[in-house]
Parts: sequence; C-alpha cells; structure tokens
Amino acid sequence: MTANNERADWWKQAVVYQVYPRSFYDANGDGLGDIKGVTERMGYLRELGIDAIWLSPFYPSPLVDGGYDVADYRDVDPRLGTLEDFDAMCAAAHEAGMKVVVDIVPNHTSTEHEWFRAALAAGPGSPERDRYVFRPGRGENGELPPNGWKSTFGGPAWEPVGDGEWYLHLFAVEQADLNWGNPDVHEDFKKTLRFWSDRGADGFRIDVAHALAKDLDSRPLADWPDDPDQGEPGDDNPLWDRPEVHEIYREWRQVFNEYEPARFAVAEAWVVPEHQWMYASPDELGQVFNFQLSNAAWFADEFRTAIEKGLAAAEQSGSTTTWVLSNHDMPRHPTRFALPQVRSSVHHQLVTDWLLRDGRTYHEDRELGTRRARAALLMELGLPGSVYLYQGEELGLFEVADIPWGALEDPQALMTTHGDAIKGRDGCRVPLPWRAVDESGDFGFSAPVEHEAAHLPQPEWFAQFAVDVEEANTASMLWFYRRALGMRSELLTATGDTSLAWAGGYGDQVIAYERPCAGGRTLTSVTNFGEGPVALPAGEVVLCSSELLAGRLPQDATAWVVR
Ligand code: NOJ
Repeated sequence: MTANNERADWWKQAVVYQVYPRSFYDANGDGLGDIKGVTERMGYLRELGIDAIWLSPFYPSPLVDGGYDVADYRDVDPRLGTLEDFDAMCAAAHEAGMKVVVDIVPNHTSTEHEWFRAALAAGPGSPERDRYVFRPGRGENGELPPNGWKSTFGGPAWEPVGDGEWYLHLFAVEQADLNWGNPDVHEDFKKTLRFWSDRGADGFRIDVAHALAKDLDSRPLADWPDDPDQGEPGDDNPLWDRPEVHEIYREWRQVFNEYEPARFAVAEAWVVPEHQWMYASPDELGQVFNFQLSNAAWFADEFRTAIEKGLAAAEQSGSTTTWVLSNHDMPRHPTRFALPQVRSSVHHQLVTDWLLRDGRTYHEDRELGTRRARAALLMELGLPGSVYLYQGEELGLFEVADIPWGALEDPQALMTTHGDAIKGRDGCRVPLPWRAVDESGDFGFSAPVEHEAAHLPQPEWFAQFAVDVEEANTASMLWFYRRALGMRSELLTATGDTSLAWAGGYGDQVIAYERPCAGGRTLTSVTNFGEGPVALPAGEVVLCSSELLAGRLPQDATAWVVR
C-alpha cells in the first residue's frame, strides 16, 4: 500500500483512475466490459501506480445513457456480473493496496426502475408519483408540457404519460428526475450508501450533485425561463445549484461518518468556482471535481489561472482540490491539444465541430498532441490535491472521431436532430486495446477467443496504442505514466506536505512552481509553453516529458528538478 493510502484522509492526495466498466476489459466475451474484467486486470492497475479505482455505473440499466440510467442501485448489471464479482473485485483491489470508489446517480432513475413503474401504475396524486416530479400539463386536456424547460441532451424536459400528467427529465426521456422533497428518496439513498460501504466501497462519486434540489412550487412553472442556466446559481434558479441541496449532503455526511475510516464523496457539480467549495466542505461530501484544467486550451495563462483558482477553492473549503484532464464526458485531451488552439471560450466549439465532421475539418497533429499531453501530465501530477485519470489516457489514446453515426450509443448524439446535431461522447468510450495483434479483431478487449463484437467499433490505429506494444517500449506513454506516478508518490505525496510556491523569473510563457519533497529537498516543476527553450534551475532533472535541448527545456515540455 502507498504511504498515502495508509492515511484516513487518503482521498485528499490520491491518484484515482476512472474505469468506464463497459469499455475496460471483457472477461466473458459478450462485447461489453465487466467487473471480472477489472479483477483480471488488477495487476495492470497496480503497476500503473494509482491509489484508487473509480467505477462508472455498473448497475442494472437499459443503457440508454451508458449506465447513468440506473434501474436498481443495489445490484450489478447481469451483463457485467454479480454482486459476488463486485466483492471479489473489491477484495482484489484492497489486496493490491488500492481503494474503490463507486458512482451514485441520485438526480434521476431509469424509467425501468421499480419505483417509476409503480408511479405510472398508481396514477396522479399517488404517493408513488410523489417520488418523481410529475405535474399536470397545460392546455384543456393537459396536452402541453408544464413549461418550456429543455433537457440537457436536447428536446423538451417533460414527457407526457397519457393521463394529463408529465414527468420531468433533465437528461434523457428514460431518466426520470427524482423528487428530493420526498422522504422515501432520502431514506433509499442512505440505504444505498450503506449498502456499498458495507461491501467495501471506500468512497463515492456523485453524479450531477448540483441538480437534486429543485424549486417547482414557489411560482407557477410557466413563469420560469425556458432554459435556466447551469452556471447561474442561487435562489433564482429553479433547477441548478440551489442552496437546499447542501442539506442533503449534510445528511449523507452522517452516514459517511458511521464508517472507519469515514467515507468521502466527490461531487460532479458544474457550478461557478465560487460555489464549488460548498460541496467539498468537511460536513458535506469532502471533495468536488474541479474541471478547470480540462477546460483550459493550450495557453500558459489559461493553465495558470486554472491552477490558481483550484488552489484557492481548496483553501476555502478546508479540503483539497482535484485535477482532471479527461473523463468519459469530454473529448480526450491529446486530441484537444493536437487541434488548432484558440481561447477556451471557443475551443470547445471548435472540437465539437471537428467531431461532428468526423475529424476532417482541422488537422489533428498527433505528435504535438502527445508532446503536450506528456507535459500536461507532469504539470498536473506535481500539484497538491487529488488527480483523476481516465482509462486509456495512460496509453495516450486520441479521440475516435469517425465512429459511424449508426454505431453511436450516446443519447447526446441520438437526441439531437440534424442542424443542431452533435456527435456526443462515444469517441472517448471506445473499448481499450490490450493487444496489437489479435486474430479475433478487437485488440484483445474480450478475453475468450470466440466473442461478440466490441460494443463500439475500434479504429485500426488503436494497434499502435495497445498495452502490449507500450509495455514493450519504455519510451511509451504507459511507461511515462508509471514513472511519473511513482515519483509523485515517492517524492511528493509521501511527505504529507501540501504547500506550493510559485517560482518566479521565467516570464509569462512558463508555469513553474516549487514543492517540498522527500529528503528535505525541493522539487521544481517547470512547463514551457513558449517558443524558445528555457534554462532549468540547478539540481537533478528527475523526469522530463521531452528530450532536453542542450540542457534547456524545449517548447511544450515539463521537467521536474530536485535540489
Ligand atoms: C454526468 C455523467 O458524467 C454523464 O455521463 C451523464 O450523462 C449525466 N451526468 C447524466 O447522468
């Protein structure tokens, strides 16, 4: 076990690796990754040098939204295994010194959940309907939606059920929003938190944590704006980041504290930075995702601001911050860095357009994207706080931009109509390549020789990024991740000292900071965004993301120097 994981508050400085289970490794050959697949690859995860595994939802689900449409919160999808498989996976992770974090989806259930079926059967005004957000439609016979709210995935946020009532779904039609004003909902989620904690889960990731509390009654529904902005918090926003949401998390904290060590949770909350810390406070969830690094385009000032804001928010919450470059909801960062760089406010649109045109509009400079991804990793890993990695980034995978429309699974793609179409998030969810040469055609994703096709098509170029190819080449991204993670743990996390000082004198194209490191020494991390190579401080260069040029740090590179 790493020194970090021996601490009760291990999650404050952890490296957490996100497994998207259906695309990680398929042990039974049905073309979907599974829980046994994670157990079988535990050695790979241990060697990578991570502290914890976070599993995206693996619960029974019709898979309308990649499992974020949960039909039963306290079971395993039979296609992914059984509860015993979960127990075995958890035991194997613990045995290998790693923690396990599971995903909780409290804003909505699948419409296949037994509560939703009961709500439909019981009819208007019933206690069963009160667990969800049902409202009468407008118009003479309720033929119009209660108001104009839009689903995040496109289209209206209300769906009629044929008896004059409509239910709210902020995401897909098959994801019905729960009513957190109902005590059954509170009790059931506390039961779920205890269920997984008792089975060995060490922490939780909370899906759309800022959406649970809603105001549907203080004014007529039709008086609200059609599209309440997720970034505009407060009393005047009926859906997002309402103040009452924090009461729920204070209640959950009581549950977390029943355990030894206390469980923690990390909130997915797309709220303004000034509000983020509330979710992370010690009497609530403990930690919140800070997506600022993943929002930054490749400019020194954008990364510096992201780091400053993350550190400030952590200080305010009395917790630590989190750093994220990629997850299952965004195009992979080597691709983002390989495309033309414009300011982050418009870069997101540039990447979305590029994807919509199957990656044909702009040149994806992969060599550049890889170089920047290596530099970004080292800059990220040197920071205090937790780092969340997304499966496949350790292989340097790029976004798969040309998945045929007919093969897409993401409701973001399926719910948008042409004109405002987007290609969605499948390009970062393609099953991992484990073997470059594999007669059965799925790069070793499925263990059995005879197997179903992988649930999303893998491109030919995945061969270059297969685990066996990277294992055999110590200059690969995989080995770079292993070395960098090992050094972070040994030199930085082990000390328990989380202070950071900016190192001056490098100009505005360089990000340089200093951290106290093992042996009473100092580690300086220097990242060069500018064209000219820069001189490094005196000391031993323990790791560098690119070759030095006559002892100087080239453009788009990071070095760690210890003295
Ligand atoms: C956030 C999850 O990360 C995303 O994948 C999902 O579609 C939405 N929440 C809805 O649950």
